[in-house]
Amino acid sequence: MPIEHFSRIISGVMTWGEWGKNLNTKEVAQLISHTVDQGITTIDHADIYGNYTTEALFGGGFKASSLNRNAIQIITKCGIQHLCPNRDNKVKHYNYSKDYIIWSAEKSLKNLQTDYIDLLLLHRPSPLMNPAEIAEAVQKLLKDGKILHVGVSNFTPPQTDLLKKHIPIAANQVECSITHTQPMFDGSLDHMISNNIAPMSWSSLGSVYKKDDERTRRITRVLDTLSKKYSATTDQLLLAWLLKHPAKIRPVIGTATPERISLAAKSVDINLELEDWFMLLEASEGHPVA
Ligand SMILES: NC(=O)c1ccc[n+]([C@@H]2O[C@H](COP(=O)([O-])OP(=O)(O)OC[C@H]3O[C@@H](n4cnc5c(N)ncnc54)[C@H](OP(=O)(O)O)[C@@H]3O)[C@@H](O)[C@H]2O)c1
Repeated sequence: MPIEHFSRIISGVMTWGEWGKNLNTKEVAQLISHTVDQGITTIDHADIYGNYTTEALFGGGFKASSLNRNAIQIITKCGIQHLCPNRDNKVKHYNYSKDYIIWSAEKSLKNLQTDYIDLLLLHRPSPLMNPAEIAEAVQKLLKDGKILHVGVSNFTPPQTDLLKKHIPIAANQVECSITHTQPMFDGSLDHMISNNIAPMSWSSLGSVYKKDDERTRRITRVLDTLSKKYSATTDQLLLAWLLKHPAKIRPVIGTATPERISLAAKSVDINLELEDWFMLLEASEGHPVA
């Protein structure tokens, strides 16, 4: 399935397992069904989530949900060698050798109990990545039908270009939100528009609910006003703010709370007026645009 058909809001499962809610198989099955019922069909994983355990938790939950595999699109990531009891690493590092990429993707397939990954992302750029070697691994996985698309995450435009010479890059997942607006100004999103690369944002709500500082208080004051105007919750407005960008950002949401997932799904119906969008930007920056 082409990336354009992935759901506009993507559900991230980083906190569904050991790194957060510790859901059991039945709860995962229910949460998957709920998420898909809301129209959020694309699910964001990484091999490392839950210290390399969350893919398998999800795989069991998906099986128990009795949904068809083609009802969802699975994104997962590879490349981070994390320090945890499940891996024999001496230091946290990145590995983009041909053998490791193939081994990692195959392990993800097994854990997820599926035959294919819709989109495999290289999780973070490594100073030692060799584009020709990465291309060999990716081409094999594509040829074998084990992955349908490849993309990157947290890559700058030049890092993306380095790989793009060898393999088609379908997506780049970067941190982007009202409190992390850099991709809108450092050329990252412009580069994605120009190169037909689908942008996905992580930490899409930024630090609004995580920090209580001058900046988040300014943002919250504007959100509270707009909340009444649009009859929307503040988290919906934060997603609507990203959705208005012409790069067609696909926000990855991190919540494992069913009500918040439902609200996020409905944020696609909110069209922020131009001046309201800039009012939020001004609250974030602390000054008007030049
Ligand atoms: N590519 C990368 O390098 C990268 C890095 C980090 C994350 N990710 C992906 O992005 C996804 C989202 O990441 P994130 O955790 O940074 O996302 P987030 O959307 O900022 O969510 C973080 C937490 O905020 C809470 N939350 C959500 N809405 C809230 C609200 N209205 N009020 C108060 N708290 C609220 C949620 O808790 P509840 O669950 O309790 O609702 C959630 O656990 C991850 O699951 C992962 O798939 C990718």
